[in-house]
Amino acid sequence: MDKFVIKGGHKLSGSVEISSSKNASLPILCATLLIPFDVKFSQLPHLNDVSTLIDLLKDLGAIAQIDGDQTIINCKNIHKQEAQYDLVRKMRASVLVLGPLLARFKQAKVSLPGGCAIGTRPVDLHLFGLEKLGAKISIEAGYISAVADKLIGCQIVLPFPSVGATENIMMAAVLAEGVTTIENAAREPEIEELGLFLNRFGAKVEGAGTATIKIHGIKSTEFKMPKDSYRVQGDRIEAATFVIAGLITRSKISVTGFKPSTLSSVFDYLRQMGAEIQELSNGVAVSASEIKGGVTIDTAPYPGFPTDVQAQMMALLCSANSDSVITENIFENRFMHVPELNRMGSDIQLKGPSAFIKGGAKFQGAPVMCTDLRASAALVLAGLIASGETEVLRVYHMDRGYDQIDVKLRSLGADIQRVKS
Ligand code: UD1
Repeated sequence: MDKFVIKGGHKLSGSVEISSSKNASLPILCATLLIPFDVKFSQLPHLNDVSTLIDLLKDLGAIAQIDGDQTIINCKNIHKQEAQYDLVRKMRASVLVLGPLLARFKQAKVSLPGGCAIGTRPVDLHLFGLEKLGAKISIEAGYISAVADKLIGCQIVLPFPSVGATENIMMAAVLAEGVTTIENAAREPEIEELGLFLNRFGAKVEGAGTATIKIHGIKSTEFKMPKDSYRVQGDRIEAATFVIAGLITRSKISVTGFKPSTLSSVFDYLRQMGAEIQELSNGVAVSASEIKGGVTIDTAPYPGFPTDVQAQMMALLCSANSDSVITENIFENRFMHVPELNRMGSDIQLKGPSAFIKGGAKFQGAPVMCTDLRASAALVLAGLIASGETEVLRVYHMDRGYDQIDVKLRSLGADIQRVKS
């Protein structure tokens, strides 16, 4: 298992280009299951989660050709509608094959994703939506089975705007008969992009990215092949992580290759905390001489403050002049970075879903352990300003969702090395 060794205390400078979004790439790759011909991508991010999903598609019968930055997925000859435990357990997003497989083959079987490091993460809302469309769902021996004679468009009101459930239902509804309306849909930019991607191939999705999504079902013969290859948008969570890297080191850097509007809620808080954030056409320039703290942040579905930036923001707030509070409202148990940050010298107290963060921490390098993707990012950020050497162990968690974070941080002037085991 590789580790990162970071020598803290270096200022950063220069510009970093963000890779394509993990959370947009995964559902879009699942959507290729609907399409019976070549789907061309350019510059999919180099992430373990993306490789895992491509392996899953291949296991179902897809052909994947990867040539440099070009990837072609062809799902014409899918011969299996079952996503096995071995692949699903590696990555929860594998459950997103359920909707497209069911829509195209009228049957699908997917291993239950099970518990995961940041909470129980059930899939009841995914199943609720698919049942409304006409699927019969059963759960047996750890697998979800869904069958349907046909899927019929209807109105689906989600009790909570789940990102994954919205995506699964959207993909299933593309080939349903008639019109499906999803109310209280998740509004994340990745949902908007999934809608744009599907429409490029001839689907009829309206309102993706808003709380009401309308999908006019089409026949699979109506899919059409666009001329150009598709490039997934820049990863807003990776962008936020680099912005925070600039601010935690009190440096001036540019972060490019993403839409600044997708991080408005994060930037509002950072500005309140004293950061200067200048919007560029394809990113931001950031700097700060001091970080004030004194904020109360609640994670919430988009456009609220993203749970995926909570851990990184907490590392920054430890270094602020005054105390702050973060409440995690999306996932229970998403504070596994807290004991590790405290081992590095911060003072964060947990009370239920809230973390009370004392400002003015002086991080000291220590061996720390990655527990999940974003928790790991928080530890790397703390390592950038810690005295001495920080060893971040189990970086495979980071490799799931950050495209060469060590290489990119080094290009900005950080002293971070990957030590292979
Ligand atoms: C997606 C993102 C993840 C992000 C999260 C919230 C991907 C691949 N992952 O995860 O990085 O942190 O959105 O922005 O895009 N829930 C249920 N029942 C369900 C589905 C969800 O109770 O059927 C609960 C979950 O347990 C969780 C909350 O709803 O507490 C949010 O989950 P959801 O929005 O579905 O997140 P994911 O799609 O899993």
